[in-house]
Amino acid sequence: MTTRTTLALAGAAAGLLIIIGACAGPIPLSQAIWPQHDKEYRQMLAADPQNPQAAWYAWTAAREGITVDEARARDQELSTTHNPYSANRDGAAVSRGAVIYRAMCQRCHGADARGDGGDLLPGHAPRDMHAFGSRFAATIHGGAPRAWFRKINAGFGDVVQYPDGSSTAMPAFGDTLARAQIWQVITYLQSLDMYRKTPPASNNQPS
Ligand code: HEC
Repeated sequence: MTTRTTLALAGAAAGLLIIIGACAGPIPLSQAIWPQHDKEYRQMLAADPQNPQAAWYAWTAAREGITVDEARARDQELSTTHNPYSANRDGAAVSRGAVIYRAMCQRCHGADARGDGGDLLPGHAPRDMHAFGSRFAATIHGGAPRAWFRKINAGFGDVVQYPDGSSTAMPAFGDTLARAQIWQVITYLQSLDMYRKTPPASNNQPS
């Protein structure tokens, strides 16, 4: 086989995989979350339940042997436009993002990010994250993650009255999550539908 034929075949196979992946259902939250990240998140929050962002800074500082101020400063240096994680390769980031999703987003966006969570108000529903356009834009093109970062960080939509207070329909998480965590939860959203029933092999490895 010539190199060109091999390349063409490889390209066709990759295209087919993308199509198959796109048709597959989402990976359930329970499978996306590795047990160690579930535990890690609970331990992290226990240190400062009222302030999840400060809890993350403190946890990162302890983990990396730096001060809390350094942890915060490093986090603030992360780009707001470019996702440092890859939904294809970073199973740990997908898993950490899934933990955050379950804790903070599921109540509105629903267990499968279909936009059907119990805490939504009539007339203010988010879109189904699996909708063809948003899924492809999110996974292959850089545009949606950038917009998502902005919307998750600063919130958007009409100001509405939720049971726990008034906010934009999509509340702002810039004071609740570290930038790294916002990117992790975006990475989780990007991973939706990328796998079929089985999570990536790296899911069994500790991190
Ligand atoms: C209290 C309910 C609520 C919670 C909690 C919530 N969202 Fe939302 N979200 C919404 C609503 C409602 C919209 C749509 C707003 C609109 O279109 O006016 C939205 C929109 C979005 C969008 C924009 C999608 C698009 O159309 O581009 C993203 C991304 C998003 N949310 C991510 C998250 C993430 C990640 C979390 C958790 C960290 C989260 N949301 C938590 C209600 C919520």
